[in-house]
Amino acid sequence: MMMQQGVLAHAVDRRPAASDIAIIETPRPVCPEDGVLIRLAAISLDPYVAMRLRGRHMGEPAPRPMLDAIPGHGVGQVAQSRSAHFREGDWVHTTEAGWRDFAALPDSAVRKIDMTGLDPADHLGALGMPGLTAWAAMRHRADIRAGDIVLIDAAAGAVGGAAGQIARALGAAYVAGIAGGAQKCALVQETYRFDACIDYRSEGWQEALQTTLPDGLDVHLENVSTAILQLALSRMRPYGRAVLCGLAGEYHADGPRHGIPPGLLIAKRASLMGLVVYDYYDRWAEFTQFAAPLVRAGMLKIAEDSVAGWVDAPALFERMVEGRHVGKAMVRL
Ligand SMILES: NC(=O)c1ccc[n+]([C@@H]2O[C@H](COP(=O)([O-])OP(=O)(O)OC[C@H]3O[C@@H](n4cnc5c(N)ncnc54)[C@H](OP(=O)(O)O)[C@@H]3O)[C@@H](O)[C@H]2O)c1
Repeated sequence: MMMQQGVLAHAVDRRPAASDIAIIETPRPVCPEDGVLIRLAAISLDPYVAMRLRGRHMGEPAPRPMLDAIPGHGVGQVAQSRSAHFREGDWVHTTEAGWRDFAALPDSAVRKIDMTGLDPADHLGALGMPGLTAWAAMRHRADIRAGDIVLIDAAAGAVGGAAGQIARALGAAYVAGIAGGAQKCALVQETYRFDACIDYRSEGWQEALQTTLPDGLDVHLENVSTAILQLALSRMRPYGRAVLCGLAGEYHADGPRHGIPPGLLIAKRASLMGLVVYDYYDRWAEFTQFAAPLVRAGMLKIAEDSVAGWVDAPALFERMVEGRHVGKAMVRL
């Protein structure tokens, strides 16, 4: 039996585009011993994948053109099990799904998920890798305390949107976001319930940042650019904490990198922390225990930007890589 799979059409060494991706027919894999065959229901599209396609992500190899599925996290149901831990019909999440209809994986690569009152999209967004990243950033790296004033860049994105809502749940007093455009800012304020959103594409936005946060900020989450990180640090109150999670605006810009002046960190007594979500993959159960009740209560939401089936997936991937998507990008199957 055959299935569809998304692959690189050829090797790339620039920002990948829709035309770099081919959807091909390939034999459906067989269920491995001590493993499962998963019928995938939804696949996540994430900014790191574009770097992975160039062989520039955390030392991981690029997929081989016309051979390997494009990487992606996925949610689906067990179609066949040769594992003592899974039964046919179980809902599962895996970081190793890839762009394909079926994935055959060892049971160690698969995590059982509870779908009660939830949708596959929740397990790719708010309860998926972006949500886990947001929780790691706010709860463990920034260590949000009651009364904190928080600023989040790419606030309309899955990580940023979840981070603001999690910061609020952890006791932050005021949460402001930065996002590109009126539509994204409306999402940040109306759906994610941030106190404010600054549209960096509008005239005078830096002054708006000053008037929105007249007393400065305690915590900043950076997802996009060193320039905005520097701006946030310059507005930080003493002993503030900044988490550097991503640089989506710089991943595919090959020019010289902007640096953070070390004197700024000294003057602000600030902590600047990197974050890699891989370090938290073994804490997914703990995170789910915290976040699933919030999702079920409507207190932690992530908008969805999806397509149905593989045909439109390359175009959505291109929009996502350029930051033109709104919410969590995913393919529903
Ligand atoms: N460290 C980790 O372990 C980890 C884990 C997950 C994600 N991340 C990173 O966290 C960030 C947010 O992830 P996400 O999934 O929530 O993505 P996202 O926020 O939905 O997408 C990135 C956002 O960056 C902004 N952007 C500005 N200039 C851009 C450009 N030139 N190209 C692309 N985007 C641009 C866009 O928002 P605006 O239009 O609002 O500017 C875009 O929506 C990304 O940098 C991602 O790589 C890191």
